[in-house]
Amino acid sequence: MDPTRDNLLIRFKAFIDGLGIFTLFAVLLLVVFGAAAAFGWLKKGAEPEEAAAKIRQNVKTGVVAEQAKFLSKDAIDSVTPNVAKLLTHSNPIAVEIPTQVVPGSETAKKLASEVPIDPAQMEIGKAQFLVCGACHGQNGEGTPAGPPLAGSEWVTGPISNLILIQLRGLKGPIEVAGKVYDFPAGMQPMAYQTDEQIAGALTYIRNSFGNKASAVKPEEVKALRSEVGQPQVTAQELIKP
Ligand code: HEC
Repeated sequence: MDPTRDNLLIRFKAFIDGLGIFTLFAVLLLVVFGAAAAFGWLKKGAEPEEAAAKIRQNVKTGVVAEQAKFLSKDAIDSVTPNVAKLLTHSNPIAVEIPTQVVPGSETAKKLASEVPIDPAQMEIGKAQFLVCGACHGQNGEGTPAGPPLAGSEWVTGPISNLILIQLRGLKGPIEVAGKVYDFPAGMQPMAYQTDEQIAGALTYIRNSFGNKASAVKPEEVKALRSEVGQPQVTAQELIKP
């Protein structure tokens, strides 16, 4: 056995030495952390996060500024008319649902050529047309008393135009197949015929003299009867064929 173990003084000295070494380490640690704190090393871990936040902030500011430049009210205002122009000048989608087909369009003409015209209606129309033929020519070629119906875009165009012309008459300049006509007294209304007769006459002119278009139904004439008595219609009031 070690005899020093029982010596109180020696044991006390060992205790003091141990305490000294322990204190030395404590002081060393304090110095190291103190220096680290003084040079900012301890904050190092937080710094990249702050830098990244700053970069994000800069990017965001830049993006917002760029957006503001292109999405300013002026920019939007300058683009809107072009979009509107593009839309109004674009061709309608080719629909074949009868109620959605644009009158006078290629689809309307195609559909009209597919629906057979009732020969009985053409007979009624032919008889009624004798009166029209007095001014428009029995072959729709036109006379000094009326413009041609053969090759007239009005005749094969929207049906409501034709019904209005017949029920109210027509006055003022009207361009037919590239030529402007303006008869002083215009055309007088001819509303005395029945719905069937008017529908027949209009179906007849739409399907004679080389014209080809859909038939006119008596119900379509009936629907516009309230127009009778109104002043003569002008080309401006009609749907451009
Ligand atoms: C008394 C002469 C006269 C008679 C009858 C007459 N029209 Fe007209 N019609 C005219 C005149 C004139 C115009 C052009 C009016 C103008 O200058 O605005 C015209 C214009 C038209 C137009 C538009 C222009 C075109 O040539 O496509 C149509 C369609 C038309 N008439 C259909 C008829 C039909 C259908 C009848 C018979 C139910 C008829 N007209 C009977 C004199 C007549």
